[in-house]
Amino acid sequence: MTQSAITNVTVIGSGTMGNGICHVFAQSGFTVSMMDIKQDALDRAMATIAKNMDRQVTKGTMTEDAKAAALGRISTHTDMAEAVKNAQLVVEAATENVDLKLNIFRQLDELAPAGCILASNTSSISITKIGSVTKRADKVIGMHFMNPVPVMKLVEVINGYATSADVTSTIYKLSEQLGKVPCVANDYPGFIANRLLLPMINEAIISLQEGVAGVTEIDTIMKLGMAHPMGPLQLADFIGLDVCLSILNVLHNGIGNPKYAPATLLVNMVQAGYLGVKSGEGFYKYTPGSKELVVSSMFSVKKW
Ligand code: CAA
Repeated sequence: MTQSAITNVTVIGSGTMGNGICHVFAQSGFTVSMMDIKQDALDRAMATIAKNMDRQVTKGTMTEDAKAAALGRISTHTDMAEAVKNAQLVVEAATENVDLKLNIFRQLDELAPAGCILASNTSSISITKIGSVTKRADKVIGMHFMNPVPVMKLVEVINGYATSADVTSTIYKLSEQLGKVPCVANDYPGFIANRLLLPMINEAIISLQEGVAGVTEIDTIMKLGMAHPMGPLQLADFIGLDVCLSILNVLHNGIGNPKYAPATLLVNMVQAGYLGVKSGEGFYKYTPGSKELVVSSMFSVKKW
């Protein structure tokens, strides 16, 4: 299938990544079916997409009419069979849990039309493994968007072992059609984005744990010294500390090098429920509506 044959896209999952992916497809003229198991999650996602499109309207990069048309192209579904029945492409953006994803792909393989491409937005789970539970491993591919999806230009396109060259080429061109810049990587743990990003975040946490410097100092050094938009600790909070831990475990177990072992401090924070922005506290404490960066009281006093 060529990318021009793709007009109907189904996105599985309506969380931060799922609703961002729906946003960019709808904005680019695709008919989008957004699927989640709960209607209230879908309603919240539609409100988030509308709010994020409002930012573009305020900036003048989208008209009110274009926003209304894009929102009108998105339908919401709690039934998977209904959601995928007309899809030429499904992008799965469910929780980063291997059993959950394998189960979703088994169902998608049963329910989606025969020629439909099945993509996963996984940040680290093997595309080859996901493809192996389907009867169409040649049509299974990674389409890894970055958060916030409407802003970040990259799509990391990941080839599973059996992904066909035609499917890679289709997804590459489709990503360009979304206004993104695709980069192809092969299926090794963490692909490229997270194989490089997570060791940096982990090293920042180990440096904090060892008392080399405080939260503000570590983040400021990387922001002002390396021109990163967020320091590694703030970025870890933004990604979610549970997600960071799970990606590091994939790297550690999959590559088998002790250099990927997650920092004990990260493990403890996840166990204690300090997950970053989504739980209200990680390395920083978050107050809804406030953009001020306040270091968590756990780290505001020097303990070393
Ligand atoms: N939807 C639409 N637009 C959005 C948005 C969203 N969800 N979030 C932010 N924006 C827009 C804002 O409207 C604003 O636009 P203008 O500059 O044109 O006015 C712009 O993005 C910047 O936003 P803010 O002014 O609110 O805040 P900021 O300047 O601090 O930028 C940020 C926020 C874009 C998130 C920036 O801090 C950043 O780039 N951070 C790093 C993000 C990053 O590294 N992402 C990758 C994470 S890793 C990942 O996703 C993959 C994985 O597998 C773990």
